[in-house]
Amino acid sequence: MKKRAVHMVGNWKMNQTLEEISHFFIEMSKMKMELKCKAWIAPQAIHISILKEIAFTTGSIQIGAQNCSEHEAGAFTGEISALGLADLGVEFVIVGHSERRTLYGESNELLNKKVLLAMKHGLKVIYCVGESLAERESNQTFNIIETQLSVGLKNIPVELAHLLMIAYEPVWAIGTGKSATAAEAEEAHAFIRSKLTTNAEQTIILYGGSVKPDNIDSLLCNENIDGALIGGASLKAQDFRALCSSGSTAMM
Ligand code: 13P
Repeated sequence: MKKRAVHMVGNWKMNQTLEEISHFFIEMSKMKMELKCKAWIAPQAIHISILKEIAFTTGSIQIGAQNCSEHEAGAFTGEISALGLADLGVEFVIVGHSERRTLYGESNELLNKKVLLAMKHGLKVIYCVGESLAERESNQTFNIIETQLSVGLKNIPVELAHLLMIAYEPVWAIGTGKSATAAEAEEAHAFIRSKLTTNAEQTIILYGGSVKPDNIDSLLCNENIDGALIGGASLKAQDFRALCSSGSTAMM
């Protein structure tokens, strides 16, 4: 029996048409009764309201966002407001995904502002950390993660610490088909947990990077791996169902 609830979180990135979404939920609804783990999805921002409505009807999946602005409100064309997300009843927001860090130049300092603002509005935050291949090969993995944690999670009020979740996503494992081994992931997760100063034992730490139905079980049987942040495999209902099924088994 796991001490912490297993979470299967789909990060749909910039994918899925309305037709694909509809098909996905029809397939997912077939497993409603078996779902014991948490099943969450972060669609593109433009689809959040639609998914909220469908999820409300099917009752088993929570919806989140892939990003939010570091600003409270105002003249920031194209941005996504944390208050707006909270207003919509969104459950969580992913902050600091490696694609945001590398493609959009988001620094740990900027991400800290996003984390604090999202939490201020009551959103659960999945804060992503992870090293590049070059950093792993030069034995920088733990230094990099430590800085991402200490700067990105600075000044979180103790009373909001329960809103924090972490995703360990080694950059070299994202979308490459080359997952970290369960031992590599567990080592990083244990390190991350050891660096958390508040709520460490209860904090959910997800693994992300080429998670598939055929490697999830070996990941989930580790003490510090509480679920997964899934890209490609979360787009297909059949795979996401299989992952949720493994998550449900791990809860028993
Ligand atoms: P893949 O599962 O496609 O490797 O993506 C992982 C990821 O980036 C989830 O946030």
